Amino acid sequence: MTALQHVRLGAYHVVPMAAPDDFDEWRDHARRMAMADVPPDRVAWTEPGGPAGNLFTHGDRRLPVPDREAPPPRVSRRFIEIAKTVILHADTDRFSLLYRVLWRLQSKPRLIEDGADADIRAMADMARGVRRDIHKMRAFLRFREIEHEGDEYFVAWFEPQHHILRHNAGFFTRRFANMLWSILTPRGSLHWDGDTLREGPPATRADAPNGDPVEGMWRAYYASIFNPARLKIDAMLKEMPRRYWKNMPEAQLIPDLIAGAQAREAAMVSAGAMENGERPATLDAVDKAIHACARCPIGALENRAVMGEGVPDAPLMIMGEQPGDIEDRQGRPFVGPAGQLLDVHLERAGIDRRAAYVTNAVKHFKYVSGDVPNRDVPNRGVSGRGKRRLHQNPSAREIDTCRWWVEAERAIVRPRVVLALGASAARSVLGKTISVTKARGTPVPLDDGSELWVTVHPSYLLRLEGPAREEQARLFDADLAAVAARLRELA
Ligand code: URA
Repeated sequence: MTALQHVRLGAYHVVPMAAPDDFDEWRDHARRMAMADVPPDRVAWTEPGGPAGNLFTHGDRRLPVPDREAPPPRVSRRFIEIAKTVILHADTDRFSLLYRVLWRLQSKPRLIEDGADADIRAMADMARGVRRDIHKMRAFLRFREIEHEGDEYFVAWFEPQHHILRHNAGFFTRRFANMLWSILTPRGSLHWDGDTLREGPPATRADAPNGDPVEGMWRAYYASIFNPARLKIDAMLKEMPRRYWKNMPEAQLIPDLIAGAQAREAAMVSAGAMENGERPATLDAVDKAIHACARCPIGALENRAVMGEGVPDAPLMIMGEQPGDIEDRQGRPFVGPAGQLLDVHLERAGIDRRAAYVTNAVKHFKYVSGDVPNRDVPNRGVSGRGKRRLHQNPSAREIDTCRWWVEAERAIVRPRVVLALGASAARSVLGKTISVTKARGTPVPLDDGSELWVTVHPSYLLRLEGPAREEQARLFDADLAAVAARLRELA
């Protein structure tokens, strides 16, 4: 029954919703209507600015008095869960749809499980649309940097299809807690000052800045992660519909990237970099391929890949985390301060570094520029600005991405013993995070018959002072001595 038909039928109630996305408000009204025994076709729901709001000038705007004796409506948790999502949909019929389902649930409690029912299907379709919009906003919203009262300030323009802005507020506040930002949309705006989130009125596209240096970073990042081997144009358009492109700096690259994809794919194949292809079979091929690798954002920084080095069939593989600043400049692993300290301890344990193969879990140096105080600002590291480059730990995902190369090295070198220095190296070998403190001292058997020994990273010692450093150095020596003994046994 349409809203206009209600008008003709006479007695109906107009329920004005104060907010378009407030489930609790809808629930309170719906409960009251149900307890006053008002059937769904006698209720017209309106929302601020909604088209139906003006039609119902004659309905009864006083809400009915609920029958105190009437039992409150009963609904399942599943209904509530879906309804909380459906309420965010832009369709003005969503309130009445939910009320109708709530009403019907009283006589048919299992209705919500009936996927063939038109109302239940409509709810499911709406919920799907809302979830998709929530995801799109999280994935495709792009901040642009502006100068605001002397501060770096970030502004994003986004056009959600549904009332998801408030729902997504927590996500953006947590994710960009250390930035100052505004998100502007035609449905309202959010403003974060690093401490408090404020809601503001709807905005227009003209209120948002259009292009600035941050766009360049996004473009560089996107170009680097764009994997031509995975290019499926239909799938890409489905995931990233064209309507989002206009607010995404990197989307301007898509036509060119597609055009260049075949050439890049050929280059990647020749470098042995294809994920679904063969791993490079020689250390030279790994070396070439890692220089072309930009599977994770680290590879897009201003750095160079640092290949492992040493004896190609060494019984011992020593694995660090990632090259540091000096290693990046020299193109060799473990030549900076941590490497020099490692050399001292290896020698003390009787391990000849020249007889080992030394490499890293992550092949590129991950850093942020020293002049950028806020590390949580996205893509800070991509810019390469400033002179000092401050080491950053690789994420689990980055380590896992780089495992492809580490496994290739292991398959070629086939060491009997892998010595992992620190948690990142251990994760690279095992594919999962373990506690170094618990794992040290006891070898972990690996699938290829070799074994993993885990100890701390020498840079950990460099960060300590006094007795703490002495104590940790002693434990480090003990770990290395155990590895040396094991190597002698195996020899
Ligand atoms: N730290 C590492 O983990 N590896 C290096 O190559 C240098 C420092």
